[in-house]
Amino acid sequence: MPVISQSACGKAILLGEHAVVHSQPAIAIPLLSKRVRVRVEAQLVGPTGRIQVNSPLLGLKQELASLPEHHPLFQAVRLTLAELGVMQTPSCTLHVSSTLPISSGLGSSAALAVATIKALSKFHGHPLDLDTVNRIAFECETYVHGRPSGIDNTVVTYEKPIFFQKDRGAEIIQPGKQFTFVLADSGVSKSTHQTVAGLAQDLADDPETIQPKLEQIGSLVIQGKQALLRGNTDRLAEAINRNHALLSALHLSCLELDLLIREAMRAGALAAKLTGGGRGGHMLALVEDDKIEPVLEALQKVPGSNPFFTIVKPGAEA
Ligand code: MEV
Repeated sequence: MPVISQSACGKAILLGEHAVVHSQPAIAIPLLSKRVRVRVEAQLVGPTGRIQVNSPLLGLKQELASLPEHHPLFQAVRLTLAELGVMQTPSCTLHVSSTLPISSGLGSSAALAVATIKALSKFHGHPLDLDTVNRIAFECETYVHGRPSGIDNTVVTYEKPIFFQKDRGAEIIQPGKQFTFVLADSGVSKSTHQTVAGLAQDLADDPETIQPKLEQIGSLVIQGKQALLRGNTDRLAEAINRNHALLSALHLSCLELDLLIREAMRAGALAAKLTGGGRGGHMLALVEDDKIEPVLEALQKVPGSNPFFTIVKPGAEA
């Protein structure tokens, strides 16, 4: 059996994280150059059914069976084999590598699941179609995040900018012009499971305060969608800044994220917000082309923030 290698991209939520869990819309973009790669290598001498995992990055060198049940890799393998009706797989090793920062709000668990599902199904000679990959990846996400909206697995599976609403699915967005975003790491690793559960509790305790904020975020997402479609940078910038203010009011930012946002804005970004689960993870800033370098330089001065930029553009990317 050949060695099979597949990859999946990361993602950034442009607008609407958290509110999307509570049925508001959200927009996500793929990070095409930041990827998780899974290589499946047959082990001719190993006993049938034994799957080894090897990933220095994830600190894994062990049998798959010894991973905790909620691990995305464990679930991705289990659910893929069940989908294919494979009772016993030939002995193999899953090698996992990544250029996508792990556990920092950029969709690494979804990317790990999607790359694993694609690689393992191809290894068995039955590559699964993207809709099936997405369905299985969503199920994996429920083990990791508890109550995911489904936006992460969807953008990571289809690798297109999407407008997403729970129960209505995804609509691919074709931006009216090219937009550039700079991302930087707060260095704080926070579990999305915890922040999602925390907001759900706040909503249950105080719906009069929380629900209107979620609805305002939903309105900003609609504004952002129109701005993307029409290529209106000012309207998109306004939506991003106001979205961050609302996320802050929901206690989803932190000092480290606010510092990155301040530095990006001081260096000339048009707008900036947290992206993903919040209270850590990454910041996303909207920048004009002549400000990419100054914003990257300013953020590079914040130790460990490892800034990079990504674009969404009309045409093939959308
Ligand atoms: C995480 O990338 C986005 C959240 O809205 C959770 C979800 O949608 O599942 C925080």
